[in-house]
Amino acid sequence: MNACVGACLAWVLLSATISSASSTDQDLEGNVGFMAQHWSHRQRRGGGDDRSNIKQRKCPNLGINYGLVANDLPPPKEVARLLEATRVSSIKIYSPNADVLRAFSNTDMSVVVGVPDESIPVLASSTDAAMLWITANIIPFFPATRIVSLVVGNEVLSKTSSDVSNHLVQAMENLYHALLFSNIQNVSVSTTHSMAVLETSYPPSASRFHPQIVPTMKRILSFLSSTSSSFMSNSYPYFAYKQNPELISLDYALFRPNPGFSDPNTNLHYSNLFDAQIDSIYSAIKALGYDNIPVVVAESGWPSHGDADEAGASLNNAEEYNRNLITHIASNAGTPASPNRPIRTYIFALFNENLKPGPTSERNFGLFQPDESEVYDVGLQISRPAAPPPTMDAVNLTNPRSPDSSSGSATWCIAKPSSSIELLEQILQFACQEGGADCMPIQPDGYGNCVYPSQ
Ligand SMILES: *[C@@H]1O[C@H](CO)[C@@H](O)[C@H](O)[C@H]1NC(C)=O
Ligand SMILES: *[C@@H]1O[C@H](CO)[C@@H](O)[C@H](O)[C@H]1NC(C)=O
Repeated sequence: MNACVGACLAWVLLSATISSASSTDQDLEGNVGFMAQHWSHRQRRGGGDDRSNIKQRKCPNLGINYGLVANDLPPPKEVARLLEATRVSSIKIYSPNADVLRAFSNTDMSVVVGVPDESIPVLASSTDAAMLWITANIIPFFPATRIVSLVVGNEVLSKTSSDVSNHLVQAMENLYHALLFSNIQNVSVSTTHSMAVLETSYPPSASRFHPQIVPTMKRILSFLSSTSSSFMSNSYPYFAYKQNPELISLDYALFRPNPGFSDPNTNLHYSNLFDAQIDSIYSAIKALGYDNIPVVVAESGWPSHGDADEAGASLNNAEEYNRNLITHIASNAGTPASPNRPIRTYIFALFNENLKPGPTSERNFGLFQPDESEVYDVGLQISRPAAPPPTMDAVNLTNPRSPDSSSGSATWCIAKPSSSIELLEQILQFACQEGGADCMPIQPDGYGNCVYPSQ
């Protein structure tokens, strides 16, 4: 990328396209920014009655990025169980990690598998190399694990090494053919792009790709179109805000009520930066002659913590952004320019990842802590117990091993005489609820004799 800072200011709107020779990936993310006037009132938090979250269903267009750059994450099997109880329908991983692929076998979760940048040159060298890769990394897990796409490289066209980007399309084609040779017809092949592939982004209808990547982009679009695959972009209103906190409205970035703006060419009204970023991508694709390729957001998120100079990184902002993003995706609303195309979106990220390099925010994009507790609540859980379970302490239970230890793991709890009947009832209801312990022996209509007074 050549060093260029272009800003286009009109009325209360601003679009900043920023890239620089020395910039890191994060610097390149936020090149689409729009400012809109501040609105006087804040959106109400949390979408009303908290109980409305209890019976939420799976959201087919909601995915999450499961990154592994950490040394304290729970085993993948536990992660599969954790995600089962959330609205998330799909995970995206950055490399074909065998433990993760195995852990998600025989679950309903769709899995998008990343092909690391480093593998691209060899995969481009021959279809045999691609066959080897598919044989080693996909065949052992498919279809027990619902692998639905391969994502070849991450933001390759915005990186400085042209070695990898020159090989990108050939690697995608070789992998596609290797899948077909393996008789796998329903796994698509794509790649991800940062917003830095755009040269101009204001207004969305006038957005265009950087001229120097257009030849490669044309080949990518032709491939995606002919294989019915999606264009995948990493869209972060956070990075746009972080770079221009004085100019970009936080309300507009966080999906809060705000006046928004109208695209002067189309008269379409934009009330959030996320939609404007996606429509900018749609326009740039259309300018190269394609209007049948869906855009999927491969990454979007907001950090809950950052360094002193990282504007906007806070727990409240992260909670608000992700909660509103999930609501937006779940509504299947599409964007102003493409109202009938729901936006499949992969939130970044599942966990805080303690070994990620860079500023503090990089290690704080997670919705969950490594101990599986939520960093903040965004209404992701499908089912929760009606009341939090009373702690064992509160009812004074002791749990001697079952005398019948031949059955291995059987454990009986004996309440201390000092425990109150009310608390005991509560904890029994919790322990015996669906999916919990086998409580037949203590049911009056069960087979056991453990009911007092005995019947
Ligand atoms: C993909 O096709 C295989 C058969 O090749 C099938 O078993 C599997 O269920 C399909 N997966 C999806 C997600 O439709
Ligand atoms: C539990 O038992 C201890 C004595 O063993 C007692 O002091 C305490 O109040 C009891 N707690 C409850 C919740 O019953």
